[in-house]
Amino acid sequence: MKIKNVNIEGNLFLAPMAGVTDFAFRSLARNFGASFSYTEMVSSKALVYDNAKTKELLITLENEKPVGVQLFGHEPEVFKSVLNLQELQKFDLIDINMGCPAPKIVKNGDGSKLMTDFKLVEKILKACTESTNKPITVKMRLGFDKDVSVDFAKMLEDCGVSAITVHGRLREEFYSGSVNLNAIEKVKNSVKIPVIGNGDVTNETSLNAMLQTGVDAVMIGRGALGKPYIFSELLGCNKKFDKYEIIKKHIELLKNTYSNEYLSSYMKKHLLWYLKDEKGANKIKIEICNEKDIEKCLLIIQDFLKNCS
Ligand SMILES: Cc1cc2nc3c(=O)[nH]c(=O)nc-3n(C[C@H](O)[C@H](O)[C@H](O)COP(=O)(O)O)c2cc1C
Repeated sequence: MKIKNVNIEGNLFLAPMAGVTDFAFRSLARNFGASFSYTEMVSSKALVYDNAKTKELLITLENEKPVGVQLFGHEPEVFKSVLNLQELQKFDLIDINMGCPAPKIVKNGDGSKLMTDFKLVEKILKACTESTNKPITVKMRLGFDKDVSVDFAKMLEDCGVSAITVHGRLREEFYSGSVNLNAIEKVKNSVKIPVIGNGDVTNETSLNAMLQTGVDAVMIGRGALGKPYIFSELLGCNKKFDKYEIIKKHIELLKNTYSNEYLSSYMKKHLLWYLKDEKGANKIKIEICNEKDIEKCLLIIQDFLKNCS
C-alpha cells in the first residue's frame, strides 16, 4: 500500500504503545514481518522544550524503515514549530494522536479530546500540512462520547490527511466491550485515503473479521505484547520461535542506550508478558520481579525455558 509517497509492503502494522513499543521491540516486530511501526506517542510540547527524555523516544533502528513518529498535543503553533526539527526528519510520516483516552492526556485537550473540536483539528492539520511535505496521518477512535467517526474522517481527508487509523471504540469505552467493526467499515467506505483498522486483533479469526471491513491494513497492539512474532504467525509462518533468543535480543538492543538498573526495571513488564502463556512460570515471575540485575533475570528465564522444551 501507499501512504502519499511512502510505499509500505504488507498490511500488518504494529500499534504505537506508550511505554511498550521501544525501538528494540519495534525492530523485533519488523523482523517478524510487521509492515510498519511508529514511535510511541511523543509530546509535541516537550520536543519544543528540547526535553532529553522525550528525545530518547525518537531513537529508531535501520530495519524500521519506513517508520512513523506519533505526536500528541493540541496547539497548532506547537505542531508547526516541531515538524521541521532535525530529529524528525528521519521519519517517513507524522501521525497525530487523536485517540488516546488516558485522563492525564484528555484533561490537557490532547488525544481523543480532539475529536470533540473539529475546528481546532482543522487548524492543527493546516499547520502540519503547511509545515512539511511528509504524509500526515491521524489515529482516531470513533468519537469521544458519541460516534462522530464518519464526519471526522471526512474532515481529516478534506484537510489533506494521507491515511487514517481507526480504533473502533469511543473514548468513554476505553478498552471495554468489543471493537465496533461496522463503524470501521463505515469509515472505510466514506473516504478515499487508506484506512487502517485497529482493535482486538489477536489471531487469524479476529484478523479476518477486521479485513472483512475492507480496511487497507490492520494495526495490532495488545496482541503483540510479549509476542513480537505474532506478525509471522498471522502471515502463516508455522516456525517455532526461540523465546529466550527473542528476549535476549530485546535486551541487547536496548543495552547501548540504557543502564542495567533502568533496564531491570523497564523490562519487567515485557518479561512478564513474554512469560504469560508459559505453564508453571509463576515462581520465576516472582523471582524476576524481585531481581535488580537484568542479566540475572535473563539467566532465570533461560533456565526455565530450557526445562520447558
Ligand atoms: C499500554 C498501551 C499503550 C498505548 N499507547 C498508545 C500510544 O502511545 N499511541 C496511540 O495512538 N495508541 C496507544 N495505545 C492504543 C493502541 O495503539 C491501540 O489503539 C489499542 O490498544 C487497540 O488496539 P489492540 O486491541 O490491538 O490493542 C496504547 C495501548 C496500550 C495497551
